[in-house]
Amino acid sequence: MQKTLIIYESKYGTTEKIAKYLSLVLGPAKYCTTTEFRAEFKDFDLIVIGSPIYSGKITPKISDFIEENINWLKNKKIAIFCTCISREDGNENLIKLEKILGDVLLKRALGGILKLNRLDGEDSQSLKEFSEKIGFNLNDTDNFNLEEVINYGLELKLIKDDLIPVMSFLQLKEAIEEFLNSHNTCTLSTSYKERVRSTPIEYNYNNGYIYLLSEGGEKFANLLLNNKVSLAVYEGYTGMNNLAGMQITGIASLIDKNEDEYKDVIAMKGLNLNFINNMSVDMNIIKIKILKIEFLYSKFKKMGYEPKQIFIYG
Ligand SMILES: Cc1cc2nc3c(=O)[nH]c(=O)nc-3n(C[C@H](O)[C@H](O)[C@H](O)COP(=O)(O)O)c2cc1C
Repeated sequence: MQKTLIIYESKYGTTEKIAKYLSLVLGPAKYCTTTEFRAEFKDFDLIVIGSPIYSGKITPKISDFIEENINWLKNKKIAIFCTCISREDGNENLIKLEKILGDVLLKRALGGILKLNRLDGEDSQSLKEFSEKIGFNLNDTDNFNLEEVINYGLELKLIKDDLIPVMSFLQLKEAIEEFLNSHNTCTLSTSYKERVRSTPIEYNYNNGYIYLLSEGGEKFANLLLNNKVSLAVYEGYTGMNNLAGMQITGIASLIDKNEDEYKDVIAMKGLNLNFINNMSVDMNIIKIKILKIEFLYSKFKKMGYEPKQIFIYG
């Protein structure tokens, strides 16, 4: 599994909070300060470095860490972020950092928090001097934005997923189809605004599509307003060396009773069309076009590949 290490410093807690949230989104991951860093962490696949901006610069603990570790850092996949009140300060520092580290995967200046009554005496004084020098008024400021942090994490996750050494297209497609065809029940997740719903439901897979037959229910309240869905197909947990589950991202649509495809799906499900049509209630077919499958399968590891593989449907 591709592991992410987030190295940060934080005097007043905002950068620490960001490092912690990023590690949750990017997991498997670990976040640590430069003093908590240990040599064995060098084998993490993606390194994210985060620093607050104090008096126009990244904190010396981070610049010293980079200087001392530049030899191995240069050969790593790296992303950087900083926490600041002025994005301009943040971006300037990130550009300087990138020059030292070489090309980084993603850099972002994230909003920080400044609470004047929480500053220690030294910071209070240096901030006062610094603000007088550059001529801005000191005020309590809260530019922290959780959504901005999560978006940075998700963008980075997409880039990270692209770094996974891939199996051949055909081999992966075959493994995916074999798994889907040898299971028959999924968890369908639908959502609209505050409403989320997970439904265990029988499925059929055919050539990049999932078909579900349903009498109706609350999932349709979501589907009619938001056709973006996620499905999970998985085996029960038996041990960390025996993981098997996939997360499917797709777009749902309904197949009308009058369409030929409705008859085809009923036949695919091994059901009799007359029986379905003579039922006292309507049976509805949901068709899901698969966009992406994230497949965690311990068997891949035994075959010499990364256990998590991602398949994008064209
Ligand atoms: C002494 C001091 C100096 C600061 N100087 C700057 C600055 O020059 N530019 C800026 O954008 N933010 C500045 N800030 C705001 C910090 O970047 C912001 O408070 C950040 O959230 C701090 O991160 P932390 O909570 O992880 O310590 C300063 C904050 C302090 C305490």
